[in-house]
Amino acid sequence: MEKMTVTFQLSLATIHHQFYSHSMIIVCVCVYVCLCLLPGGFISTVCCLILKLVSFQNVGAINFFCNYEESRGNYLVDVDGNRMLDVYTQISSIPIGYNHPALLKLMANPNNLSTFVNRPALGILPPENFPDKLTESLLSVAPSGMTRVQTMACGSCSNENAYKAMFIWYRNKERGHNIPSDEDISTCMINQAPGCPDLSILSFMGGFHGRTMGCLATTHSKAIHKLDVPSFDWPIAPFPRLQYPLEEFTRENAQEEARCLEEVEDLIVKWRQKGKPVAGIVIEPIQAEGGDNHASPNFFRSLRNIARKHGCAFHVDEVQTGGGCTGKFWAHEHWGTDDPADIVSFSKKLLTGGYYHKDELQADKAYRIFNTWMGDPSKNLFLAEVLNVIRRENLLEEVTRSGKALLNGLYELQAQYPGILSRARGQGTFCAIDICDDATRNSILLKARDKGVLLGGCGDRSIRFRPALVFKEYHVHLFLNIFNDVLAQHK
Ligand SMILES: Cc1ncc(COP(=O)(O)O)c(C=O)c1O
Repeated sequence: MEKMTVTFQLSLATIHHQFYSHSMIIVCVCVYVCLCLLPGGFISTVCCLILKLVSFQNVGAINFFCNYEESRGNYLVDVDGNRMLDVYTQISSIPIGYNHPALLKLMANPNNLSTFVNRPALGILPPENFPDKLTESLLSVAPSGMTRVQTMACGSCSNENAYKAMFIWYRNKERGHNIPSDEDISTCMINQAPGCPDLSILSFMGGFHGRTMGCLATTHSKAIHKLDVPSFDWPIAPFPRLQYPLEEFTRENAQEEARCLEEVEDLIVKWRQKGKPVAGIVIEPIQAEGGDNHASPNFFRSLRNIARKHGCAFHVDEVQTGGGCTGKFWAHEHWGTDDPADIVSFSKKLLTGGYYHKDELQADKAYRIFNTWMGDPSKNLFLAEVLNVIRRENLLEEVTRSGKALLNGLYELQAQYPGILSRARGQGTFCAIDICDDATRNSILLKARDKGVLLGGCGDRSIRFRPALVFKEYHVHLFLNIFNDVLAQHK
């Protein structure tokens, strides 16, 4: 059985974090230099690594440096040898834990060597086994109603191309055919309509869909992501602000959702009148980066109907929710509908990025949806094996079980520390809780790390829990005990 050893050590990363959060980078660097000069190698590993990196990169977001060779399962090891229970997993991106034996075996298989060594430009020169590997991996978990998939590299790149697919689909629908006019061709080259049409995508306040230019226009979680970057005049609808636990506030929450849905329809009409019709609606099944905000299955089904009624494509961004962490492979499966979306994008736990889509959203000409890599076949190999492990070890059931224990534990702690904790919420292990203020949240995150638990924040003052699918009830209890100790220090 895995046993956690926690070494108490003041790490330089902690100092860095505290200093950075107070915008004292210069002072911080001076502290690093002084500490680096200390005899005896005290915290010098992290110190020197940061110093090396800071000379050519912004290091403001770095927590600490890791030893991935020594990391196993749910435990991440840092360069000082501290072993931490990882409840954040590289921003929700490690599906079956660190160094899973099934993945190591795959790497050791000589038949796979050429896939790892020769990364192809998939859009023009795919390997022989590419169709089979996609069938075995991504297509075996395709969302209901979708038989087509386009691989990409990261989440933003997937969403960016999904948006383009929606615009192309919408314009062809407007034209009634897919032959552009001479004017379309000439005007698109100088960024003018009708070749570059005034279409829009409706997104939600608090949503996060990435930081590339198109995605950023639909991201509204934190100003730091958007500041100084030009954007589009696209409609932004309110996302329901629900009260938790959801079961205790059904009437109030239904009213709040109805208000938001009404606003969505109003915005669609307004933007059509402005001459910027809404080609697509994009939404996360649970707003993650924006603060783990939930909405009911009925809200999503109604929104899907609104999209259909107004002729907009419906894009569900499952980059963070996809891959099993909610207890179902896709979070939208909780909505109980056979026709959840026109596009579903993914990345993170799926290892490769990409998006599934309905037949009609297939781009009609080569190079319209294209880039050099178009994904990475080695990630499809890994994904096929990850899916085998998920099935073989019944990991979705495991997530449901651990998720229940985690949420119940959070409810108990919330009752115990009402001055600190509120709004515990979750689906599967995709859970979160609010902290009384941002400063206390950050202090809790640091203290938890010093006690051997790695957590992440989201929204203004929430902590999000994003363990791997191999996070068992045993790990939940380990975590809850440590979290309890940390909270007691803040009482
Ligand atoms: C819902 C969602 N969409 C898109 C993205 C962007 O993905 P990436 O950071 O891989 O570009 C993220 C990343 O956190 C996300 O959570």
